[in-house]
Amino acid sequence: MTKTGKVYLVGAGPGHPDLLTIRAAELLKTAEVIVYDRLIQDEVLALAKPSAEKIFMGKPLGRHCSRQDEIHDLLIRKAREGKTVVRLKGGDPFLFGRGGEEAEYLAEHGISFEVVPGVSSCLSAPLSAGIAVTHRDSASSVAIVTGHQASEHDDRIDWQALSKVDTLVVLMGIHNIEHIARKLTVAGLSPDTPAAIIQMAFWASESVLVSTLGAIAEDARHASIAPPATLVIGQAVRLREKLKHHQQHIGEHVSLDSLIHSVPIPDGPSGDALSLDTLSLEEESCVSPALSEKEVLQ
Ligand SMILES: C[S@@+](CC[C@H](N)C(=O)[O-])C[C@H]1O[C@@H](n2cnc3c(N)ncnc32)[C@H](O)[C@@H]1O
Repeated sequence: MTKTGKVYLVGAGPGHPDLLTIRAAELLKTAEVIVYDRLIQDEVLALAKPSAEKIFMGKPLGRHCSRQDEIHDLLIRKAREGKTVVRLKGGDPFLFGRGGEEAEYLAEHGISFEVVPGVSSCLSAPLSAGIAVTHRDSASSVAIVTGHQASEHDDRIDWQALSKVDTLVVLMGIHNIEHIARKLTVAGLSPDTPAAIIQMAFWASESVLVSTLGAIAEDARHASIAPPATLVIGQAVRLREKLKHHQQHIGEHVSLDSLIHSVPIPDGPSGDALSLDTLSLEEESCVSPALSEKEVLQ
C-alpha cells in the first residue's frame, strides 16, 4: 500500500523569489507536485526540480466562481498517491488566501500538513511604497480588512471601529473602493485623510497612487487601477513623501523617485501637499512581467 504523502501550505510572499522564506525555497526544490495560484513569478517556479509536476489552479481571467473544491480534491488525491505536495499561495497562506479552509479539509481527511508563513501583501505592498504602517509619531494601531465583503448589503464590517484605527490596510478593495471610502467618511474619518493604492507591489509593473480618502475612488478610476492592489488609509501614508526619494526597490540601483510622475492635488489638512503619483517600474528587469495589470485576482 502506498504511504500517504504530505502537503505543505506555503506562502510565496509578494512573488519575487528573493522574498521567499528559506523554508519555502527548500520545499520548492524538493516537492514532487506544486499546486500554485496566479501571481507566482516564473523565477519562483523555476526553483522546482525538473521532474516536479506543476499544476496551475488560479482562477482563469473573468471567472469569479471558486475552484476551491477542485483544489481540495487535487491536494488529497496527490497526497494519497504518496507525493510531497507544495500548495503555493501568494503572500501568507492564512491571510485572506483560503489557506485555513485547505488546512481544515486536509485535517478532516487525515492528511498530514505543514503551514509555511509568507510575507503578506498587507505589509509588503505599503512597505514597497515607502509607507510604514505603524510609526511612533503617527500610527500606533493597524487593521487589515477585506474589501471584498464591503457591499451595501453586508454589515459584517464595523466601519465605526475601523475609523478609530490609525492605519487601515484594505485587501481586495478596488472594486468596492467608492463604498469603502463613503462608509469610512460617514463613520467619521476626514475626507482629507491620506490614502494610497499600491498595485502589483514587487512586480515589474508596480504602481502607486497617493491621494485622500475623499478623492481616492475617483483618482483610482482615472488611473485605471485594477486588482491586485492594496489600499492604505491613514496619516502613515505621508511618510512616503520623505522616503520615496531614497528608498530603492529590490534588485534596483535607482531611487524610486526618479521613476515617478506627479500631478499635484489640493493640500491635506495640515497644509502638506499630497500628490497623485504613479510609479512605473516597467523598465526594470529584476522581476518578470509575466502578468498583465488587468488580470484579476479577486
Ligand atoms: C486573496 S487576497 C490574498 C492575500 C495574500 N494571502 C497575502 O497575504 O498577501 C489578494 C489581495 O491581496 C492583495 N495583493 C496581493 N498581491 C498584491 C500585490 N503584488 N500588490 C498589491 N496588493 C496585492 C490585493 O489586495 C489582492 O486583492
